[in-house]
Amino acid sequence: MRGNILDQPLDALVTAANSGLLGGGGVDGAIHRAAGPDLLAACREVGGCPTGDAVATAPGALPLTCVVHAVGPIYGAHDGAEADLLASAHRRALEVAAAAGARSVAFPAISCGVYGYPLAEAAPIGLGTIAAFLDDHPEVELVRYVLYGREEYEAFAHALEALRAARG
Ligand code: APR
Repeated sequence: MRGNILDQPLDALVTAANSGLLGGGGVDGAIHRAAGPDLLAACREVGGCPTGDAVATAPGALPLTCVVHAVGPIYGAHDGAEADLLASAHRRALEVAAAAGARSVAFPAISCGVYGYPLAEAAPIGLGTIAAFLDDHPEVELVRYVLYGREEYEAFAHALEALRAARG
């Protein structure tokens, strides 16, 4: 759906973090502002997270099971490993959300803002990775991409249609 991820009353919100986990702009800035200083304190305790990985923390002031900090790749900065790193950031985000007990998870378009990943390339990778995870993990009941702008929404809607057609 199109919207602001902060308006989603799901169990876990995924944020597009950097590997230092020290807060940033974009969706990460919005989530940290809403969650308050306890979220940054929880991130400081974790200390960091490599690209392609994710960690769950307590959600600060947000009424959630957890916030999941997923670190996507910077487009063009990983010698061709970007697609694998973007897929693994999504997979790990779902794994840590499920391990924290979340049954519903909201995702932003990881790496598609400051990190420059083209929407048309990122959308099928994210959606395909999530669909494959859900096939094997019935304990996660709902995953929702929350796309901020019209262009993002259209790219993901198009990729979702293609995925549905491919999966029959
Ligand atoms: N809800 C949903 N999506 C949002 C919101 C919001 N409130 N705010 C921004 N977005 C969207 C952007 O439009 C973009 O499509 O999130 C997507 C990801 O953009 P970024 O937040 O720039 O994330 P990313 O490209 O992964 O870059 C991560 O940016 O903020 C820093 O610390 C962060 O260094 C890291 C880098």
